[in-house]
Amino acid sequence: MYQTKIAGLGKYVPENIVTNDDLSKKMDTNDEWITERTGIKERRHIKKGDGNSTAVMGVKAAKIALERAAISKDDIDLIVFATLSPDYYFPGCGVQVQEMLEIDTCPALDVRNQCSGFIYALSVADQFIKTGMYKNVLVIGSENHSGGLDFTTRGRSVSVIFGDGAGAAVLTRSDHNGQGILSTHLHSEGKHALELSLKGPSTNYWVPEIIADNPQGDDIPYYPYMNGQFVFKNAIQRFSEVINEGLQANGLDVDNIDMLIPHQANLRISQFVQHKFKLSDDQVYNNIQKYGNTTAASIPIALTEAWENGKIEDGDILVLAAFGSGFTWGSAIIRW
Ligand code: UT7
Repeated sequence: MYQTKIAGLGKYVPENIVTNDDLSKKMDTNDEWITERTGIKERRHIKKGDGNSTAVMGVKAAKIALERAAISKDDIDLIVFATLSPDYYFPGCGVQVQEMLEIDTCPALDVRNQCSGFIYALSVADQFIKTGMYKNVLVIGSENHSGGLDFTTRGRSVSVIFGDGAGAAVLTRSDHNGQGILSTHLHSEGKHALELSLKGPSTNYWVPEIIADNPQGDDIPYYPYMNGQFVFKNAIQRFSEVINEGLQANGLDVDNIDMLIPHQANLRISQFVQHKFKLSDDQVYNNIQKYGNTTAASIPIALTEAWENGKIEDGDILVLAAFGSGFTWGSAIIRW
């Protein structure tokens, strides 16, 4: 059995900064509410005409990751792309990346596990590398949220939270046993599928029908719906469980954690987890303040930034954990 390591990381966020005050000009909200409830001060939004899309941002992050890994795009054996906001209903963004990177042909698959998407994608990539089927896998998480949010007061409990951006990791076979991804643990609980969902357009909620129904109020299927407090309660429980599950599987305990990088859902969720595990501020990396919740992109953006800021050193035990729509959740334990 082989082991997988992260050979290179990259991130890309659009230049356009949208502050809480900017949002308060479009809807009934304010900096105090957003900061107190979520920790977010600003986020990035694609600007119409800036050339960005979910796939394009993914490619920008991927190019940086490939360069840092010193691995040629022609040596990529598989692309795994995690997003809930693809450019097209189909095909997925993975094939767009293969084309934009000018890779001759390679397998490309999209993962649809929302906020847990990057952990799921990492796990998929890890299995292919472990078994020896592939050597180099490009994993991307990217989201264009601003293209599909309701920026009126009706949508304020969701639209102030989410931001755009992309992160990428080049995974490769590790030469050193004990270095790299030690484990991944994945879960889902579909009975709560609609508690955080976007119902359409889909084959159940097709465009002409939606228009004919002329939906109003909270029941507009083409905007995301989130039962915020219910999601919050489940998130803090599942984050804790899945981190413990990962640690135990590796014979580690909380004292072994050098860095926890939680999915950036809400600063209050990260702080709850931090206090529960009695971790110091230095042991938890948060950047939701600058980027909002970027769903499948949040962990690779935070991981890249933590690495760029010198917060991760060789031999460190890293814990990645996520929870989100599905519900889905997961963790990855990595020895850097
Ligand atoms: O990443 C995927 C997983 N997602 C999460 O983990 C998110 C989990 N949930 C949350 O982070 C929080 O539930 C939210 C940040 C979404 C909301 O915070 P909350 O403390 O649960 O607030 P709430 O939804 O209970 O709303 C409290 C009040 C309501 O007004 P009333 O009914 O008390 O008069 C809302 O209408 O705040 C109002 N409100 C706002 N006010 C100003 C909702 N959104 C806003 C807003 N600005 N943007």
